[in-house]
Amino acid sequence: MGKNVFIYTFGCQMNVHDSEKMLGVLSQGGYQNVTSPEEADLIIFNTCAIRAKAEQKFFSQLGRMKPLKRRNPNLQIAVGGCVAQETQKKIFSRAPYVDIVFGPQNINSLNQLLDQGRKLAVADNPGLAESEFDIVRDSSFRAWVAIMYGCNNYCSYCIVPYTRGREVSRPSDHIVEEIRDLHKLGYKEVTLLGQNVNSYRSDTDFPGLLEKIDATGIARVRFMTSHPRDMSRELVAALAGLPSVCEHIHLPMQSGSDRILSLMNRGYGFADYRDKIAMLRAEIPGIAVTGDIIVGFPGETDEDYQATLSAIQEIEYDGLFAFMYSKRQGTKASSLDSQVPESVKSERLNNLLKIQEQITENKNRCLENAELEILVEGPAENDPARLMGRSRANKIVSFADNGERAGEIIRIRVTRAHMHTLEGINLAINSHIV
Ligand code: 5AD
Ligand code: SF4
Repeated sequence: MGKNVFIYTFGCQMNVHDSEKMLGVLSQGGYQNVTSPEEADLIIFNTCAIRAKAEQKFFSQLGRMKPLKRRNPNLQIAVGGCVAQETQKKIFSRAPYVDIVFGPQNINSLNQLLDQGRKLAVADNPGLAESEFDIVRDSSFRAWVAIMYGCNNYCSYCIVPYTRGREVSRPSDHIVEEIRDLHKLGYKEVTLLGQNVNSYRSDTDFPGLLEKIDATGIARVRFMTSHPRDMSRELVAALAGLPSVCEHIHLPMQSGSDRILSLMNRGYGFADYRDKIAMLRAEIPGIAVTGDIIVGFPGETDEDYQATLSAIQEIEYDGLFAFMYSKRQGTKASSLDSQVPESVKSERLNNLLKIQEQITENKNRCLENAELEILVEGPAENDPARLMGRSRANKIVSFADNGERAGEIIRIRVTRAHMHTLEGINLAINSHIV
């Protein structure tokens, strides 16, 4: 008889994709994916350690598994991902009912680990985790494709180099083959994943890889995350020249203060960052720019914070992810004095988000009446009569449901802009309006 698995996925797209890999491995072991933990014979937590909050969320969810385990003694509970890699034995002491702790490198051997009831399987130096198995993908038209693993940057606040290990790039022909297969299966969009995709280097560099991927015929290529330091002229030229590469860049700035950027070990100042954005916007008309900001890094003064605010006002991001600094054990920044009080951090965050909201809205307003290419995804949130999809610049657009299918690429005219979404009409159906 088949067995059921339920996976809780926390954190970034790499984790979302790792969960798809886990399902692929487990399907070889006779498991099928179910939608509630109550039905499961195996519950997996794919965890995130980037900020303390993500880790707390996992531990509190894990606590709720105790009664399930009592009701079903055969239930197995496994913990994978970044917290597993980082805290290892701590998980067993906090939650003795956990059966297996496994690192990102042990996904391929999940079935053996489960058979043996192995307690701990965490690689010392996590690195390449290329899947040997078919991946059970969540979508039939958009796919995640890992191109590299790990990170060598050691930004002083960040735990990723410790949980995901050193940078390892996949050979370009493996990546291209995967994307060629996806294209044959009818996939329209791939998102290339890596902690720092533009430092990709195997038999070719990142611009070279994009060129090869463009030649597969896949309609849309996205990638994340890029590092401002590695945003070269060659890469900008590749983005501008390759038709499949979407007009969107996620380029985390982290802070607008040079002093803080240097303490963060980011390897650039605000002037460099501004120049890169200017170069991107000059070469790629209509490119959307998104970014990440951390407020309340140790020692961040009011003046530093003001520099960040004026930087985001100058850049005018299409969207911004902002976080309060979270102290991560083992990172360089965790030993810095002058940690900023939580109340100051949260005030700075709220204030920054309020300023950004206005910018986002203005940016979206500029798109009213624009004609956009949309990849249809499915039902719109909160309105069953409408569908939604994403533009090449990654804007969410809703439109009246006229039987368009998920995975279809259509042209839309934007009729109205909101804070987080756009409304539009399908030009093929409303041709009289063109
Ligand atoms: N505290 C707060 N934010 C962090 N990030 C990474 N590490 C931390 C931390 N310790 C943010 C950065 C990064 C994003 C993925 O998460 O902005 O770009
Ligand atoms: Fe962390 Fe910096 Fe690497 Fe991003 S580039 S994963 S922030 S160390």
